[in-house]
Amino acid sequence: MNIVLGVGGGIAAYKAAEVARALMEEGAAVRTVMTASAREFVTPLTFAALTGHKVITSLFGDGSPGEVLSSSVEHIRVARENDALLVAPATADLLAKFAHGLADDFLTTMYLAFTGPVILAPAMNTEMWRHPAVQANVETLRRRGNHIIEPDSGSLACGETGAGRLPDPRHIAAETLRVASPVRDLEGEVVLVTAGPTQEAIDPVRFISNRSSGKMGYAIAEAAAVRGARVMLVSGPVSLAPPPGVDLVRVETASQMRKAVLDRLETATIVIKAAAVADYTVENPPSQKMKKTAARMSVDLSPTPDILAEVGRVKGGRLLIGFAAETQNPVAEARRKMETKNCDMVVANLVGQEGTGFGSNENEVTLVPREGSPVVLPRASKREIANGILDHLSWLRLSRNAAR
Ligand code: CTP
Repeated sequence: MNIVLGVGGGIAAYKAAEVARALMEEGAAVRTVMTASAREFVTPLTFAALTGHKVITSLFGDGSPGEVLSSSVEHIRVARENDALLVAPATADLLAKFAHGLADDFLTTMYLAFTGPVILAPAMNTEMWRHPAVQANVETLRRRGNHIIEPDSGSLACGETGAGRLPDPRHIAAETLRVASPVRDLEGEVVLVTAGPTQEAIDPVRFISNRSSGKMGYAIAEAAAVRGARVMLVSGPVSLAPPPGVDLVRVETASQMRKAVLDRLETATIVIKAAAVADYTVENPPSQKMKKTAARMSVDLSPTPDILAEVGRVKGGRLLIGFAAETQNPVAEARRKMETKNCDMVVANLVGQEGTGFGSNENEVTLVPREGSPVVLPRASKREIANGILDHLSWLRLSRNAAR
């Protein structure tokens, strides 16, 4: 596997040397391209010595030790000869240039010519990372199919604490190789995923909902598509970009989600119900806004249909994965839901914890399969957790196919 490592000019540039080493330890050949500002932080010689290849530093070169002067079509050649492009650290400036197609140096020019998988590992100050301009560029790049490795949270070089740190180099290397050579183990499967909360109207301006952000379900849908499945994603209201290569159906209420799922069940071979469906709804909400006239008020709620239980009753040979978001006894609750809803596996999720569960980018779950012992997936990004769930699903699928 040949990887081009693009190094941007941030304090984390020194960690890129460890990324190069981790990639090589996994058997990859690494060619390094450095931006001019990256060379303010680390010398090309470091990467040349580590990788055994001269480092490309500019379209024209400046003759510094370890660097190589690129010929006029070198950026095309490097783009063609490599299997994946990893940029670590990807600075705010590089993300902006990639998102807008600017090509004013070797890395940005080669990026435009690169047709293989692109993995970007942003690292910067927390406020910069959170800036709407940076987030908009990240979303644009994600939508175009670039794989973003979310920055870690922790203490930063600028003295602040928050999201923006370059993740562990071994993690970046592993994620890069996984994206560069995806396991296509779900080829031939049609996966129906539900994600996000539902919103049940109380009146035209108010609703009942929950804290689900949809991130877990979206990560599962995206990962399943990367692994070769055809994916249908039925999503409640969330503010996430549609995952690349996935058919997205947007719904609002539990009853709309039920209809969207049942309408698509016929074609699905695997159903993953990550959505946090509201358990109660207001039947026939008023068409006008309710006025603050009484000192107290109550709303009459009736239960929503349990979509998972309904699918469980008619699932046939499909694999059915449920979720159990709990504040206590997650495994026992998952087992109970597995029985009552006829699932093949339930993903138990302890919510209400700092840093994992609802809204966060990370999660920690326990997989409770129908047969065998529970498997803990320790705290990791929701993308990694998604792949952990799919690894297990892939195994369940093999047992199902063998039994046929
Ligand atoms: N679920 C569903 N339809 C509902 C409620 C839940 O399909 N009306 C699904 C969820 O998508 C999830 C699983 O059931 O996969 C468990 O959801 P959860 O809210 O944890 O459980 P509930 O069945 O609502 O049970 P409880 O509120 O008692 O924990």
